[in-house]
Amino acid sequence: MAERYNIIRCSIHQLRPGFELGESVFSPDGSGLLHAGTILTEKQIERIINYGFDSVRIRQTVLTPEVELVAEEYCEPDMAAGASEQESEFFGIYSRSLQDMKKCFTLVRLERQLDYNLLDTLIDSVIYLSSRGIAATALLHTTTRSEDYLFHHSVNVGILANIIGGLSGAFSSTQQQRNLILAGILHDIGKLEIPSKVLYKSGALTEDELTTVRQHPAIAFKFFSHYKEIPESVRFGVLQHHERDDGSGYPLHTNAAKNHPFAKVLGIADVYDAMTSKKVYGQEVSPFAAIDTIQADTFAGKFSPDYSTPFLHELCQTLIGRYVMLNDGRTGQLVFWNRCGKENCLVRFSDGKILDVSQQPSLKIAKLVC
Ligand SMILES: [Fe+2]
Ligand SMILES: [Fe+2]
Repeated sequence: MAERYNIIRCSIHQLRPGFELGESVFSPDGSGLLHAGTILTEKQIERIINYGFDSVRIRQTVLTPEVELVAEEYCEPDMAAGASEQESEFFGIYSRSLQDMKKCFTLVRLERQLDYNLLDTLIDSVIYLSSRGIAATALLHTTTRSEDYLFHHSVNVGILANIIGGLSGAFSSTQQQRNLILAGILHDIGKLEIPSKVLYKSGALTEDELTTVRQHPAIAFKFFSHYKEIPESVRFGVLQHHERDDGSGYPLHTNAAKNHPFAKVLGIADVYDAMTSKKVYGQEVSPFAAIDTIQADTFAGKFSPDYSTPFLHELCQTLIGRYVMLNDGRTGQLVFWNRCGKENCLVRFSDGKILDVSQQPSLKIAKLVC
């Protein structure tokens, strides 16, 4: 398998745990300190700094973020600033979208009003945020959220729905795209009527509480009946976003034939974001577990492969080249991942050895390192 990587010089200020040394680093007395291929830990980075180095060479694949790929040059602050400027713009617009989402939901909560101008602005922002395509998902993982979970989740599902819809090629007109995003940002609007103590309860919900929470798609559908401007596709997308193709969802247990295509997209976006985000009532999981779940649910007939397969394929491609930690604590680089047919998941360790994690029943990728 062909590998694409660069050896670049990296300032010690930009070193991160998980980076792989591209050449051995020697201590001032000439004895070896760290060998080429070492996957750096925080402690080892400290040692490098203590020995007085101001840069080292690292091996980096084209998909690894954090440092610009300019061979044989230092990662000077202006270059780093160039890279982070784009991210600052992303997070600037993302944070404005959160404010707009908050305003929009506050107006609904207090006055039961929908502000269409604000929704239009939000849709424009989501189009910008999803213009990075699947790479936007990596940035979404880095956003921290706590009590504002619903605002984050609504914006994220709008972004993910636009990405999933775009990859499927099913919604080609601009109006369909805008409506799908609208359905994404409003999909959980019905939760505004669910008491916070139930919605954000830290422990398991009682049967009654679960029934209450599961009302939210129907609450939204009823709310939209006062707003004729909300298109039918959005109403049904929101009403059915927890329905599944095999009829196992809620609230009406409708199946593939009855579920609106928007609902099928929203269901995948919703599960992916919920599983990869840190919520007040639980820890986030890695994108790998979210991918496994969506794939298993597709095989089980819950999600439509028309929407899940292109999304999963792109997600997997984005993760190749990233540094990962296995559930036994080892760190390595994901160098190949084939989820079509016989699955292979190859991780390369610092000694150069490559392990097919998918062939080891007790092993799995626990999380992304960087
Ligand atoms: Fe929901
Ligand atoms: Fe949701």
